[in-house]
Amino acid sequence: MKAINYISDNKQRFLDELFDLLRIPSVSADSKFDGDVRKAAEFIKEKFESAGVDKAEICETAGHPVVYAEKMVDASLPTVLVYGHYDVQPADPYELWDSPPFEPVIKNDKIYARGACDDKGQMYMHVKAFEAMMANDELPCNVKFMIEGEEEVGSENLGVFVKANKEKLKADVIVISDTGIISNDCPSMTVGLRGLSYLEVEVVGPNRDLHSGMYGGAVGNPINTLCDMISSLIDEKGHITIPGFYDKVLELTQAEREAMAKAPFDLEEYKKELDIADVKGEEGFTTLERIGIRPTLDVNGIWGGYTGEGAKTVLPSKAYAKISTRLVPNQNSDEITELVKNHIESIAPAHVKVKVTPHHGGEAAVIPTDSDGFRAASKAFVQAWGKEPIPMRDGGSIPIVALFQDVLGLDSVMLGFGLDEDAIHSPNESYGVFNYMKGIETITWFYKYFAETK
Ligand code: BES
Ligand code: MN
Ligand code: MN
Repeated sequence: MKAINYISDNKQRFLDELFDLLRIPSVSADSKFDGDVRKAAEFIKEKFESAGVDKAEICETAGHPVVYAEKMVDASLPTVLVYGHYDVQPADPYELWDSPPFEPVIKNDKIYARGACDDKGQMYMHVKAFEAMMANDELPCNVKFMIEGEEEVGSENLGVFVKANKEKLKADVIVISDTGIISNDCPSMTVGLRGLSYLEVEVVGPNRDLHSGMYGGAVGNPINTLCDMISSLIDEKGHITIPGFYDKVLELTQAEREAMAKAPFDLEEYKKELDIADVKGEEGFTTLERIGIRPTLDVNGIWGGYTGEGAKTVLPSKAYAKISTRLVPNQNSDEITELVKNHIESIAPAHVKVKVTPHHGGEAAVIPTDSDGFRAASKAFVQAWGKEPIPMRDGGSIPIVALFQDVLGLDSVMLGFGLDEDAIHSPNESYGVFNYMKGIETITWFYKYFAETK
């Protein structure tokens, strides 16, 4: 394809444009950035227009807007629906970044910025692959783009948008670049995503902060109590103790587990990369299984009392925690949210009041490998990377994937190129220049092979 040469010829501009997008701090969780979130949406809309779409629009929702664009080549050709997100996670804590999160730089052939990989860098590969095919008169499919601004806060308004626009979104396949590969020597494709249930817990003790000497030992400390409650949620075997939590978990067959175990994984390397002496998780499962096929419970944040400089002797009145569970196929996030909420409230001792507030949730998804889309993506990997991708179940969540299956009846092809070392959601997030360019190329080949299946 001529588009492939076009991609390498335009490398510098493709990077410059991504840098412009990365400079816009489109943090969806923090309303202080609302104006920037919109700016990012407008930026993408303009890039779609200059790349040659028939139309591009900013679609309002109850939250941040969705950017929709399409190019209809011919009604007889298959249609690809591309999904991605232009919002990013908050960049905090800023002081842990080696360079400012919204001032992208390249170091050691990696682009450092919040959103470099998740998902601006990966989403923008699609805009550039489209441009490359258009510029060379090689676009072999119709294409629709739906790029949202609320993935990092749960995609609730996108769910509404999808349900209201079934006809507009009609397609033969969905392609998403928002996941990773095992390594650049060992490409893989995500075939499983976990679901999510997220809650916030408030524990209230005495009606005011108290002197910890005058009252300590006589009045329950909400932070101590919150810690006791949290530690009771997982037993010494790594099992979650909430009654009913595992009831619907889909257990894998021995054959499926053996197939999973074929994926290359080096536990020593894994520990070394994270600087940990040991891993920890549910007994009876390997690390890849703990991530890919088992549900988990984690505290994402915990606070209360005095955390400033020096020491303050205080028995705090209140304590808080944000708790999430990752879910696997057949578990329902609303049901789990209810279970977890009721359980935490039920174990509250009499000396505190406990309130549990649900946040967003989402369902797990499993992606079949026997579809035209998956096969075309596999071929694209062979062409661009010289290797067939290994199917992998990921631990992360993209709740809209299950909703697409449900509402549009379409499976997604997860064509992501991130690496674990890209540190998404963490300080110093990065994305390899190689992965960015290779990704654009792979996407381009995907269109060719997908068109050939029809
Ligand atoms: N792109 C990630 C999800 C992901 C990362 C899947 C790596 C597989 C491998 C996405 O942007 C994300 O962070 N999702 C959130 C869920 C959302 C509801 C906030 C997550 O997984 O925490
Ligand atoms: Mn993402
Ligand atoms: Mn993310």
